[in-house]
Amino acid sequence: MIEKNGAMTFEDSPYIQQLLTILRDKNTSSISFRRNLVSLGRYMAYELTRTFPVERFPVQTPVAKTEGLRISMDKITIIVVLRAAIPFMEGVIKVFDKAKVGVISASRGSPPDFEINVKYVRVPRIDKDTLIILDPMIATGSTLLKVIEECEKHGTPERKIIMGVLSAPEGVERIRKSYSDVEIYVAAMDKQLNNNGYIVPGLGDAGDRAFNTMFE
Ligand code: URA
Repeated sequence: MIEKNGAMTFEDSPYIQQLLTILRDKNTSSISFRRNLVSLGRYMAYELTRTFPVERFPVQTPVAKTEGLRISMDKITIIVVLRAAIPFMEGVIKVFDKAKVGVISASRGSPPDFEINVKYVRVPRIDKDTLIILDPMIATGSTLLKVIEECEKHGTPERKIIMGVLSAPEGVERIRKSYSDVEIYVAAMDKQLNNNGYIVPGLGDAGDRAFNTMFE
């Protein structure tokens, strides 16, 4: 993991960067985009387990007694920010398979205001949990500020994590200004946002690419 502009990136993982490259490529089909977004979620979640505490205990193999290890990840709530996070979550939950899952729909309006419209919130109690908010694209940060606000109505988590595919420095800075305790993990930190609030170089609209609605 490499720290960049306030986020932890997986820019040192060739496998994660290879998956990201497939997502960035405009010639990647929706089917392949979704499949690779699922894989990326799985491998990023696997990397994220490095930040969890572990318990060690004795284990008996067929041959001898040795020391075993268990990752403490019993109290986790995953929040899926609709809609691009759906395939991402499918991968993440393969690692955090005992997690509770909540859903928040938040859509972003047009520039220059990018007003956020939250229409549906279904979040379980999150007291003392590790909260993992999944939103593939951390652009202006406005959606995630609203999502965290909604989550906080459902308890006080022990850890607040945002996991995404790409981020722009502006968005990460904005989130960290309001929530200095939030940990942000992304496959890569990109350069900037364009005037339409898209991450550059980015991968385009993650929801449209995952759900084949690019030309609507
Ligand atoms: N949402 C996306 O899907 N892509 C971006 O580049 C920014 C926000």
